[in-house]
Order: sequence, then C-alpha cells, then structure tokens
Amino acid sequence: MRAPLNKAALVERKQDGPRRLVGAMAPRPKVPRAPVVLSIGGSVFATGDADATYLDKLAGLLGRLAREFPLVVTVGGGRTAREYIRLGRALGLTEIELDELGIDVTRLHARLLAARVGPPAPAHPPATIAAAVNEAHRGPLVILGGTEPGHTTDAVASLLAVRLRAARVVNATNVDALYDRDPRTHPRARRLPTVTWEKFRAMVHAGATDTAGQEFVFDRLGADTLARARIPLRIVQGRDLDNLEAALRGRTFRGTSVG
Ligand code: UTP
Repeated sequence: MRAPLNKAALVERKQDGPRRLVGAMAPRPKVPRAPVVLSIGGSVFATGDADATYLDKLAGLLGRLAREFPLVVTVGGGRTAREYIRLGRALGLTEIELDELGIDVTRLHARLLAARVGPPAPAHPPATIAAAVNEAHRGPLVILGGTEPGHTTDAVASLLAVRLRAARVVNATNVDALYDRDPRTHPRARRLPTVTWEKFRAMVHAGATDTAGQEFVFDRLGADTLARARIPLRIVQGRDLDNLEAALRGRTFRGTSVG
C-alpha cells in the first residue's frame, strides 16, 4: 500500500524565507519556446503592388504568431535602398557610405512595420544586435532593420538566430524557391526543395558580391553563420502568407529547406 501523502513533506521552509512547494506539488517551470527568426527581403516588403494590403495582413500574422512563440523579424531595403545606393554610387560615395544609406532604408521599413504591428513590438526598432537581443529577452516580438555596414539584413537575422538559439530562420523572398541556376535566364533551371549547407554555401559564395545593394537570395555572412551553427534555413515566397505561416510554424511548406 502506498504511504499516505504527507503534505508537510512537500513544503520546505527556507531559513527566514517564504514557504516553497517542492516535489510532486510544485508547478512545473515553463520552458520557453525557442524563437523563430524571419528575414523579409525588401523586394517582398515594398513592391509597388498592393503593399498596404500585404503589410496589413503580414502585421496581423506576426502579431498572432508572437502570442504562440517568440519572433524576431528583420526587414530589408529592397528597390528603395538600391535606388539610393545607385544615386550615391553615381556621386562617388564609398561602399561604407552606400551601405549606410541602405541601412537607413531598412530601418525605415522596420519602423513602418513595427508601427503597424504595435505592442509588443518596440516602436523604435533596435539598431544593434546587442539591443535586439535585449528586446528579445523582454518581449515576444522584435522588428528591426540593418545594423552595420558590410552585410545585409539576412546576416543580421542569422547572427540574431545564433545569439538567441533560434529554432529556424525563414527567409521571405521574391522567388518561390532556390533554383540550381537563375530561372530568369535559364528556362531549364530546376527547383531545389532541399539543399545541404555545403552546397548552399557554395552557391551563395558564387552568387553574392561584396558591394552595397547586392541581389543574391541570401548573403554570405548569413549563410556561413547559420551553417556553422547548423540552424535550419527555409526559403519561401514572402507574399504567400499561408505558406510563410507554415514555414514559420515549422510545418510542411513550399520552397527550399537548407540544412
Ligand atoms: P538588404 O538587407 O535589403 O539587402 O539591405 P539586399 O539583399 O540588398 O536586398 P533585399 O532587401 O533582400 O532585396 C540593403 C543594403 O543595405 C546595406 C547593404 O548595402 C545592403 O545591400 N546593409 C543592410 C548593410 O550594410 N548592413 C546591414 O546590416 C543591412
């Protein structure tokens, strides 16, 4: 026969401290869910085509998901950033100055999205990795743009993913998947539903450049950072919000899985 439950044995009194439940009656500590990081390309964010409708729905989705698991979102600069970079280059600005123009545009986009989402997203998007980590420890949704020259918001997303031990990174872009060749110039290009880190890094290193306003699907520092930490990357068409939601939730989605 089981010994009768002795409630007193389940209560421990710390010297001069409050009573504390131990053993079977103690509530289980809540294990926080690993965050998910989303990198939204500027080419998805602002296309000139029904952007307000898209951003409104995107904001709704992010607010809803952040009630279930923590989310960190980086926003790119897209064609607005490239336009400023093109103008600055024509005026002889240095690559660092051009990167800084790009960063300002990404921050403008982040501010726009954060303002529409509202709390819990901080109204003033953090400007550094350290500030974003602090915000992520305070609340379930952080939205930011770029940080410093030399990379893109994909790298910001990847560095934050490692720093926050994220479950996955989702790259919302303007193509429906990764292809073995550029589908715009190669009609026989093949979609790649899955890619190893080795192959992905080789593709990124062959395709991305070191100049401001680069256009490859993911940036070098981002790919190297995620590959080293073995954090999975999912590439999706960011305007398809159902598919984006599936990728963020870790469910079956249409696109490319790296890792
Ligand atoms: P994006 O993150 O938008 O990168 O930053 P991207 O790949 O050029 O464009 P999309 O948005 O995915 O289509 C725009 C530019 O801003 C500078 C870089 O020059 C980048 O190309 N940037 C951005 C930085 O230098 N550092 C950052 O942290 C972010």
